[in-house]
Amino acid sequence: MKTHTLLMPLDMHLHLRDGVMLENIAPLSAYSFSGGLVMPNLVPPVATLEEIKAYKARIMASVPNDYFEPYMTLFYKNYDKKFLASVAEHIVAIKLYPAGITTNSEGGVASFDIEQMRPTLEAMSVLGIPLCVHGETDGFVMDREAEFMSIYELLAQNFPDLKIIMEHITTKEAVAMLDKYENLYATITVHHLLFTLDDVVGGMMMPHNFCKPIAKRPEDLDALLSVALEAHPKVMFGSDSAPHPKEKKECSGCAAGVFSAPIALQVLCEIFEQYDKLENLQAFVSDNAQSIYKLCPEFKEVILEKRPFVVPPHYSNVVPMLANQTISWAIRSVE
Ligand code: NCD
Ligand code: ZN
Repeated sequence: MKTHTLLMPLDMHLHLRDGVMLENIAPLSAYSFSGGLVMPNLVPPVATLEEIKAYKARIMASVPNDYFEPYMTLFYKNYDKKFLASVAEHIVAIKLYPAGITTNSEGGVASFDIEQMRPTLEAMSVLGIPLCVHGETDGFVMDREAEFMSIYELLAQNFPDLKIIMEHITTKEAVAMLDKYENLYATITVHHLLFTLDDVVGGMMMPHNFCKPIAKRPEDLDALLSVALEAHPKVMFGSDSAPHPKEKKECSGCAAGVFSAPIALQVLCEIFEQYDKLENLQAFVSDNAQSIYKLCPEFKEVILEKRPFVVPPHYSNVVPMLANQTISWAIRSVE
């Protein structure tokens, strides 16, 4: 049977939620990943040292004995340098959301006034804290990310020593930015390597494929595949796995978010194999992130095998991406 081994897989954009949802879903990521960059969009958002420490402790209490490192993030506000210095050793990045653009982002940035943000972003540059950005404007839904490119350019030019990560990119415009500015990096999800808008609303409406940013056009998918499959050194895997209870997805006013964590590595194997690029998957799911974020994850070896695997209809009360569908890779063992 064909197998493929991945060492220390990392998920550099992960929603673990809180409470019962955290307890139900964190073990799924902890099983196959060595670590994950945990998003701070709780209600209220993670914005103080106490909240970071307490949330990390709740995450650690939710995962079984398997080793899993939650790389913590702080919800971006215009923090001062003293505060940033006090939290720097407890976080791996700060996550910036434009206000109201996605789930639980109401307290985000309302206007991108570079001078207002300068003290915070300069302090982050000096302290070496990367800035992760949900890059969407409030424009027409298909254009939001492309419109945000001018803001990425402003940030990249004004803060050359700041590592800026364009989160969950979905467009050819964002792909083009990677080689334009030295300090711009990106994460890519597994669903954006599979879907276009057609998979969300092209036929029957598919709420479990609905997320922000929305999946775009075939040429965008091709651009994302081109950098992911080559494991462009500035690109990392970040699932943006974002669980919502089934009743919040299968209803009028469906919440945005695709739940992919438990099957992400299996589906990535399938995609990379399909394009004959399996040898680059290790860099995409771990090595690039280790060098960009300077991480040294604990050893974990995940062996995948090529055999039909039916994606479960649900994990507790959350429906995963590709539920009930047969994928061609499964996890054989984790050590
Ligand atoms: C995320 C969520 O549900 O928290 N939703 C999503 O569609 N991706 C928030 C986010 O990352 O935008
Ligand atoms: Zn997200």
